[in-house]
Amino acid sequence: MLSELDQIEQSALQALKSVQDETSLEGWRIAHLGRSAPLMLLFDQLGKLSKEERPVIGRRANEVKRALEAAFSARSESLRQSALQRSLQSERLDVTLPGRVLPVGRLHPTSSNMRSIIRVFADMGFQVYRSPEAETDEFNFSLLNMPPHHPARDMWATFYTTMPNVSLRPHTSPGQIHVMRQYAPEPIRAILPGMCYRYEQISARKETQFNQIEVLAVGVDITMGNLKATISDLARRLFGQNMRTRFRAAYFPFTEPSAEYDFECLLCHGKGCAVCAWTGWLEIGGCGMVHPVVLQNGGYDPEKYTGFAAGLGTERIMMLKHHIDDIRYFWVNDMRFLEQF
Ligand code: DAH
Repeated sequence: MLSELDQIEQSALQALKSVQDETSLEGWRIAHLGRSAPLMLLFDQLGKLSKEERPVIGRRANEVKRALEAAFSARSESLRQSALQRSLQSERLDVTLPGRVLPVGRLHPTSSNMRSIIRVFADMGFQVYRSPEAETDEFNFSLLNMPPHHPARDMWATFYTTMPNVSLRPHTSPGQIHVMRQYAPEPIRAILPGMCYRYEQISARKETQFNQIEVLAVGVDITMGNLKATISDLARRLFGQNMRTRFRAAYFPFTEPSAEYDFECLLCHGKGCAVCAWTGWLEIGGCGMVHPVVLQNGGYDPEKYTGFAAGLGTERIMMLKHHIDDIRYFWVNDMRFLEQF
């Protein structure tokens, strides 16, 4: 039996030499240390041996078992090591190489532009008020002093929906009514940013969707002087201390008096060029003193309260700032344009 044990040990160790991977190692373990391995069967027979033989054979059998187990773990470890070496070789890493630049997403230029303008207003003490992009006819027009059939409604080329009386807002002005109704009779200093929609012929200067910011201040003793100061200050905060502004008389149904305001053309610095049609000025938006009817519709007594309002096209401001000559770039998703900001 002792020689049988030698035989078992030798042939097992011999077989182990040709084991090259985890699967055959496991096969080896089952064959030589598993329940029906020759060594284990031999253990089963120990009981049948005589008293004198049993300790001698038993000791040797245990020795062989320990030897096989030790050989098994050594082989297992060396397989693990060589697998590690292989992967270190094949996936060699040079930590001194410059890292790969990960493509990181960012805000769309109209959003970051919007945020920077909102920040300027925040510095001037205006809060942001959100109002819906789809509005009823009443909010888009009637409450802004344009009853049904009023010809001034034609100033906005509106997208109507299949829902009666609901249209996409052609301007942010209907938000004036929402914010006034929420805060009346408290004073208001708010801006209402967001997308507007108009049924326009698309061109380098006109799109069917664009962002606006509505500006609204309501309170006691608010004057046209406050309006002019706010707009001029906005221009200076956006474009620098030397930025000039001007106001021209105009007509809007929801303000009285009304004006349009221009910023000095940045492309020619007021000298006159093709972009500003040789006037030296670019129109930015409309403004005025909130019409008494609108104040009343918002819940304010026009005898006690006054207010000013203004609208500004924010893409216009970005075009001025970056000399962008076509408004269509904003919505066609051309990466060559978007990646510049
Ligand atoms: N809502 C006007 C438009 O989009 C712009 C405007 C003009 C807004 C005068 C105002 C305002 O608040 O007072 O054409």
